[in-house]
Amino acid sequence: MLNTSKIRADFNILSSRNGSAPVYLDSACMSLKPNQVIEAMNDYYFNYPACAGRSSHKLGDKVTKKVKEARQIIAKFINARNEDEIIFTRNTTEGINLLANSLGLQKGDIVLISDKEHNSNLIPWLQLRDKIGITVKIIPSNEDGSFNLDNLSKLITGAKLVSVVHTSNLDGVTNPAKKIIEIAHKNNILVFLDAAQSIPHKKIDVQDLDVDFLAFSGHKMLGPTGTGVFYGKSELLEKLSPFLVGGDTVEFSTYENYKLLPVPEKFEAGLQDYAGIIGLGEAAKYLSQFNFKDIAEHELRLNTYITGELKKILQIKIIGPEDPKERSGIINFYIDGTDMHKFAVMLDEMADISIRSGQHCVHSWFNSKKIYNSARVSLYLYNTMEEAEAFIANLNKIIKIL
Ligand SMILES: Cc1ncc(COP(=O)(O)O)c(C=O)c1O
Repeated sequence: MLNTSKIRADFNILSSRNGSAPVYLDSACMSLKPNQVIEAMNDYYFNYPACAGRSSHKLGDKVTKKVKEARQIIAKFINARNEDEIIFTRNTTEGINLLANSLGLQKGDIVLISDKEHNSNLIPWLQLRDKIGITVKIIPSNEDGSFNLDNLSKLITGAKLVSVVHTSNLDGVTNPAKKIIEIAHKNNILVFLDAAQSIPHKKIDVQDLDVDFLAFSGHKMLGPTGTGVFYGKSELLEKLSPFLVGGDTVEFSTYENYKLLPVPEKFEAGLQDYAGIIGLGEAAKYLSQFNFKDIAEHELRLNTYITGELKKILQIKIIGPEDPKERSGIINFYIDGTDMHKFAVMLDEMADISIRSGQHCVHSWFNSKKIYNSARVSLYLYNTMEEAEAFIANLNKIIKIL
């Protein structure tokens, strides 16, 4: 079981305001950051704010060593075969763009995505369709939002890549990644997993999943804003042609020629966000002290309470399966014909409760269902039952007012 009071003491924003901390229920957008992460970043800026890799002085050597350590921590965190399978990016979106623009897809190649993808795993493929003529096919989900493996099997013949979300930011449903990968691999098709929402809440083992490529963001897993990771199997990364090149990606260059560095350097163009990378390593270290089962159980307890209370409010519809067990730490809800922004703004103004409203970057899904928008609560390891109760009490007040 998680010790939330101990955890909250690690988060300045939750512990320093003498009982008036915000009720933060928007971790699917951006998680809070523990002091350990902030201190690791400050240590870089205060004590060794130099370049990695290039400069042969003590400060530069320390940055190189710390970046290497962070890469090793992340490799261990997702059980990569080696640290060179870890490429630092700014976020999940950059990882997907890296893949889309490096895979060498040609006119007519088929990419399969689900009907619940974040814009980050939709637009890069649609843009390639418009630029070079790839074909993007959509795998329809079941009515309750769960993944339909039969639909995948029906569409898979001839595809080059299956690119799907692991845990959905729309409804919290976790797709059966292992089965998806098995089906794709039987057909010699590569699989990319968007792990932006799964990595903060689940143990990800890339070798056990046998996934070919995977991306996630640091800022949803207690790490610094604007940090991310793109993972690929070594032998596949070797074959990708990087889409960002320049300083730090080449072994040598002449006016006519150049030789790219090996993986991962060939993908990390220009000076990097060293403080961010070091902070991200610290976030993975921080998360590693917990058992992910305990985090999941904690979130389920709060989700079960909130779901039960929402069900009592007849107008409210929850997106995705009814059973909170199927929705990770996410409760996304709407009322037909109502702008849910009003709820988010009122919760914030009345009770300092932060939730997210809108279409959550899954516009395609909302447009297809003709739902205007929704309000999303997303839970994490630092949330408490008292916070869940405060959310429900204030939501009930707002329902009465409106
Ligand atoms: C499922 C999913 N994929 C991709 C993204 C994009 O992440 P980022 O904005 O960090 O690139 C998000 C962000 O909310 C997400 O929830």
